[in-house]
Amino acid sequence: VPTPTKASKTPPDCYVVIGNPIAHSKSPTIHARFATETAQDIDYQHLLAPLGGFEVAVQTFIKQGGKGANVTVPFKLLAYALATSLTARAQAAGAVNTLAFNNGEILGDNTDGVGLVADIVSNANVTIAGKRILLLGAGGAARGALLPLLQAKPFQLVLANRTVSKAQELAQQFAQKFPDEQHIVACGFEDIHDQFDLIINATSASLQAEVPPIAHTAFGAQTFAYDMMYGQQSTVFMQFASAHGASVRDGLGMLVEQAAESFFLWRAVRPQTSGVYAALRAQLS
Ligand code: ATR
Repeated sequence: VPTPTKASKTPPDCYVVIGNPIAHSKSPTIHARFATETAQDIDYQHLLAPLGGFEVAVQTFIKQGGKGANVTVPFKLLAYALATSLTARAQAAGAVNTLAFNNGEILGDNTDGVGLVADIVSNANVTIAGKRILLLGAGGAARGALLPLLQAKPFQLVLANRTVSKAQELAQQFAQKFPDEQHIVACGFEDIHDQFDLIINATSASLQAEVPPIAHTAFGAQTFAYDMMYGQQSTVFMQFASAHGASVRDGLGMLVEQAAESFFLWRAVRPQTSGVYAALRAQLS
């Protein structure tokens, strides 16, 4: 009697998150959960690339049949340079956090800003349309948020930074690249006095337990204050905002939503995010 042959099973599509360091990344956990939830057969791993070896690591992964990658610190600019085509939001961000590999094409996307907007609008139920927004910072995090925030049609977007010239440069570059989008007003922290509906902290000040020095009058009971950073406790920015009447939220939801956008780009299936968010929040507490 012939022994039954094992049914041949197609191997799962492979994805990685590339960075240096990388062991701390929550992306494999998040994507594994999305895959289970949506019944997608994928394999998602950490990939530590040497500091001078990002391109080689990506090309090797592509040769091995890799389908896509998330890219994190310090490689987002190199991923932008490596991409053979870019989405509009990656162009606007000037950085890439998601790569998709397809028949020799390396598509570069940036899902950070759209993840931020999804967390604010869909999870926190805060309206951006018609509202006055203050975005703090002019580095990579702020740049990545600009286009998705403007596409949500705020009444006004004020960009404030410690180094004013960097905010002005960013606003100018943005206006040149996207002439159809609303004008961004650039200024320094000392120019902020009036109350805003939404204040987003895209500086890395929270990492040093510092609060961008803007007047407390910018915050009030109508203000929603969002810190892109997250941790076990509220950030000092959230504590300051809260002390002046604002509602607050940290960036954990943004992390989950940007991952969901990458997953959607690769798999064309939109995962539920609430379960993953709750699990990560529980791990933090
Ligand atoms: P990221 O990619 O996280 O945005 P980045 O490009 O290094 O990192 O930018 C860091 C941002 O945080 C900048 O806007 C920086 O302000 P400067 O342009 O003046 O350097 C801002 N930042 C960092 N530490 C800060 C602090 N203690 N107070 C206020 N702003 C701070």
